Amino acid sequence: MILHDLVRDVTPAVDGSEKKTVAAIRVPAANEVADLAADIRQNLLQAPYSLPPKYFYDHRGSVLFDQICDTPEYYPTRTESKLLSRYCQHIIDRLSVHHIIELGSGSSRKTRHLFDACQMLNQYPQYWPFDVCEPMLIQTAEELMLQYDWLTVQPLEGDYSAGLSHLPKPHGHSLYVFLGSSIGNFTEQQAVSFLKEVSQHMISGDSLLLGIDRVKDKAVLESAYNDRQGVTAEFNLNVLSVLNNEAGANFKLHQFNHQAVYNETESQIEMYLQSLADQKISFPAINEALYLQNGEKILTEISRKYSLEGIESLLAQAELEITDHFEPANEYFSLILAKCSK
Ligand code: SAH
Ligand code: AVI
Repeated sequence: MILHDLVRDVTPAVDGSEKKTVAAIRVPAANEVADLAADIRQNLLQAPYSLPPKYFYDHRGSVLFDQICDTPEYYPTRTESKLLSRYCQHIIDRLSVHHIIELGSGSSRKTRHLFDACQMLNQYPQYWPFDVCEPMLIQTAEELMLQYDWLTVQPLEGDYSAGLSHLPKPHGHSLYVFLGSSIGNFTEQQAVSFLKEVSQHMISGDSLLLGIDRVKDKAVLESAYNDRQGVTAEFNLNVLSVLNNEAGANFKLHQFNHQAVYNETESQIEMYLQSLADQKISFPAINEALYLQNGEKILTEISRKYSLEGIESLLAQAELEITDHFEPANEYFSLILAKCSK
């Protein structure tokens, strides 16, 4: 796929500056991947009930995730942000990149540390954020191009779990970025295949910057996913609104309770929606129904936490070579720089 005509339009903003508007390019699925109807049939209508986490992220879900990042309990964002602010200059200086390609970019809030470092070092790469949430991609691209007048942003909309081989191939060296410990939302097997895909997409001289959350005290973990303001609960429940809006379902959100527990055996937070009544939920579009009894649960997300050995094994299995490992004194989070070992 060739990218051209990146910036579609330029309109004057109220303050007199020029607001550039962009359109996202749709990245087609490379592998066959279940659509919402198939995911409902395969995962939600059969016990143990579950949903893939990508359905959290309609526009409201993306905004709620951003609000989670500001809660005092959710340490990953501020921990990773501090690591980035400390080490981005060193990283950019070493690499000299033409493209920054971010997987699951959301509001790109932490990526701004990379752009600041680029600006300081007079390097001007293009930015290609790849995300499933188009409205967040567009809003963020427009904000970024106002904040960094040198920055060209080409949003790419699609599902990264559907393979990366249709992701556009950039010229020159790229820095692939996968932040926030989104890798933890995959099972270990899915994480290895995903990183292998990234590694296969990389060419010699490319790098991957990967944020991974670490195993830690159960109380710290559980409080991060049960914030006192209830934003995580709202984020979790929002997936039911997505199913109501996109699959015509009739979930009543007040009939469910948010639960997030740390499973120490599996080293993962498990997020559930627990039914508060015996209830029937209808899916008229696919002519199906879900019968839940009081207390039954839907698994909406896992968030795996890795040990040092786990991180090393994960990257080795994906044929990625760790070149730098940054961590804070409390070892809460890892920022890994890696290159492909082919
Ligand atoms: N990287 C950002 C956002 C993390 S939230 C940060 O660290 O703050 C997870 C992001 O990944 C969301 O923006 C969501 O829309 C995106 N996402 C989740 N599943 C996805 C998928 N299968 N394909 C593409 N993007 C996905
Ligand atoms: C996006 N992802 C890495 C977050 C996490 O911590 O697993 C999503 C999230 N779920 C609840 N809080 C945050």
